[in-house]
Amino acid sequence: MYPVTADTLVLGIETSCDETAAALVMGGADVISSVVSSQVDLHADFGGVVPEIASRAHLDVLNPVVARAIVEAGVDERRIDAVACTVGPGLIGALLVGVSAAKAFALAWDVPFVAVNHMEAHLYAAFLEDPTLEFPLVVLLVSGGHTMIVEMRDHGDYTLLGRTIDDAAGEAFDKVARFLDLGYPGGPAIDAAALEGDPEAIRFPRAMLDDGLDVSFSGLKTAVMNHVRRNPDVSSADVAASFQAAVVDVLVTKARRAARQVGATGIVLGGGVAANSLLREELLGACAADDLQGFLPSREMCTDNAAMIAAAGWHRLRIDGPSPLDTGAHPNLALPLRP
Ligand code: KG4
Ligand code: ZN
Repeated sequence: MYPVTADTLVLGIETSCDETAAALVMGGADVISSVVSSQVDLHADFGGVVPEIASRAHLDVLNPVVARAIVEAGVDERRIDAVACTVGPGLIGALLVGVSAAKAFALAWDVPFVAVNHMEAHLYAAFLEDPTLEFPLVVLLVSGGHTMIVEMRDHGDYTLLGRTIDDAAGEAFDKVARFLDLGYPGGPAIDAAALEGDPEAIRFPRAMLDDGLDVSFSGLKTAVMNHVRRNPDVSSADVAASFQAAVVDVLVTKARRAARQVGATGIVLGGGVAANSLLREELLGACAADDLQGFLPSREMCTDNAAMIAAAGWHRLRIDGPSPLDTGAHPNLALPLRP
């Protein structure tokens, strides 16, 4: 175990996709500053993240974002004890910008560099806001690229209970929103449109609902498209609300089943889709019914940020010690699972 303490100040850096972020977190729990610069406007015209544009934008804003995180924290940079950075999964060019900068800062300040797995960091978003969460926990991790149900028995101890066999939940939101012309990014657009629609207007399929802990959203996406093609005058709000209801129904049913199966104390949400209003409401309702703790990180903490990177970095530094400076960027990095 590497000697980290409640005073260990970690600079977190995140550039894996379209958010450039830096944050200072003390003791893996106390957010001193957190700055997120979103590139959403740069990619909106293209209806999705353009990797080359993302890398160039990270390059332009990363230094100012780091400087602002340090200024907002009101600390001298010599106070920083370690630099933690997302090394994967994500877009290779985007990751390389953060990884190169983080290593340079660590070298210049003569402090440890800590390689962080972006998905592990999403698990830590909840702990930043509620350090009293008790293991074992079930984490429903739903982002643009991943959908996983993870059992967390301790810090760094993960078992994969279920995952998507095709599209990630966020990907389904984004594709359906694009098809309905609701705008970009798709998740928040569907969330907003659904408020005006009837979630029971169309009964879309809930694939594998009664079967295990894996999920599948590709058939649902096709069902939405077929329904709209057959009914061109259908209300987009009704389609959005009915689609969202189907996704949430599946996710909540599976998370609840997982919690029962492993005897979890509670269910925690993580990843961008965890910002979804209906998912938040339904998950809390399910936890109350099953006498489980339900924890929903704030919307800012659910989507990509660097506070979660710094928090995960503090735990990784404690468990593994500093990472070598020849650590690379890994676009397909998997969550480190219990063997
Ligand atoms: O975790 P994240 O910020 O980036 C990845 O690591 O993928 O997740 C982004 C995903 C996108 O697919 C976005 O549409 C979705 O999260 N998302 C939402 C909402 N806000 C963001 N999906 C549903 N409802 C929302 N309110
Ligand atoms: Zn993410």
